[in-house]
Amino acid sequence: MSDARIANVRGRRVWDSRGRPTVEVDVTLKGGAFGRAIAPAGASMGSGEAVDLRDGGARLGGYDVGRAVGAVNGEIAAALAGMDVADQAAVDGAMIARDGTANKSRLGGNAIVATSMAVLHAAAAARGAPLWRHLAQGRKVRIPLPEIQIFGGGAHAARRVDIQDFMVMCPGAASFAQALEWTAEVYLAAGAIMKQAGKLQGVADEGGYWPAFRSNEEALDTLVAAIRKAGFAGGGDVAISLDVAASEFGHGGSYTLALDNRKLDTGAMIDMLGRWCAAYPIISIEDPVAEDDAEGFVAFTRAHGDRCQVIGDDFLVTNAARVQKAAADEAATAVLIKPNQAGTVTETRAALEAGKALGLGTIVSARSGETEDTTIVDLAVGWDAGQLKVGSFSRSERMAKWNACLRIEEMLGSDAVFAGRGALGFCHRSEGTRA
Ligand code: PGA
Ligand code: ZN
Repeated sequence: MSDARIANVRGRRVWDSRGRPTVEVDVTLKGGAFGRAIAPAGASMGSGEAVDLRDGGARLGGYDVGRAVGAVNGEIAAALAGMDVADQAAVDGAMIARDGTANKSRLGGNAIVATSMAVLHAAAAARGAPLWRHLAQGRKVRIPLPEIQIFGGGAHAARRVDIQDFMVMCPGAASFAQALEWTAEVYLAAGAIMKQAGKLQGVADEGGYWPAFRSNEEALDTLVAAIRKAGFAGGGDVAISLDVAASEFGHGGSYTLALDNRKLDTGAMIDMLGRWCAAYPIISIEDPVAEDDAEGFVAFTRAHGDRCQVIGDDFLVTNAARVQKAAADEAATAVLIKPNQAGTVTETRAALEAGKALGLGTIVSARSGETEDTTIVDLAVGWDAGQLKVGSFSRSERMAKWNACLRIEEMLGSDAVFAGRGALGFCHRSEGTRA
């Protein structure tokens, strides 16, 4: 292995899939190895996330990252100079200490996460290994089950419908490549149905069709029709997954469904989702209630968690302590893992390992603001997360990630094990304890 001490850290402004500024970081080691990563950006964010540093003001909508890039090239570069990238925890710890805030708001979650991931890439490069293999360290890993959006909604489609993501998962597929092929058929079929209905109006932020629907149920009905039209019936091979992202329209146990012109309390919200679970082949629901509704999460998981994966995103914000509490309370059966929610690779990994140790499903996820950076694919494979959520099946910031995962599956050849249905997290409650 070449000299793995940091020689140079360089940040620059690049642009994300919404045309907004974001932070890219290059890390060069004394031995010449190099790593690069770009910070993604969310639109429907949990209040417990690491906070990006943006310049504010009128220019570029306040989204510019001049101060965050300055932090990389100034304080962060100085703090990391000479550090050994083989010790990711020490590098991340140095940035956390230098930042000094609980939410990384001083140097910026965007500055810190891009640097942290660039350091990780440099460490893999110094060992001459693909990142996923560097992370796997010889352990057997699975190719993740993809969760792929067909219709966008919520904050990603100007709140055209309340529910944020209408997705498919292919638990019956034999490989990642087959799951993508099946999803491509469903995506094509959904487009044809939208076109025929005169409702094809382009795509939302993550590439799913713009949701020109009269109700949330019409979106579900159309998704079922698309799955059928693509040749899959019954829900066994191709099933539905939803991200309700309920924190976007609910607080204090009150939920406002704008499209249906209804206000629901937590119980009514859980009942509605329960009816959907009975009527449609739904195998996974993310953030069914708001991040401030821990009791709602417990009630939903108790009612449906044995058949439907219950994912905490805004609720758990890639935080190991929150994951541990949720597992103890049976408030979720799976955790979404987003590196920029935690802010460093080390904290991201801690949240994922906490989930796995406690029997939760783990889904590594992109953000709605993305780039050509495909680091999360290596994390999902190398850490054996079992599931991967990247957005839809269009727009190259999404396809770059699906394609990167295809290449890893090909590289593994006959050693490739597709995570498939077994990756989903469910309640494994012993008989008689069901409320
Ligand atoms: P975001 O949403 O990236 O816009 O925050 C993604 C999600 O809720 O999973
Ligand atoms: Zn979410």
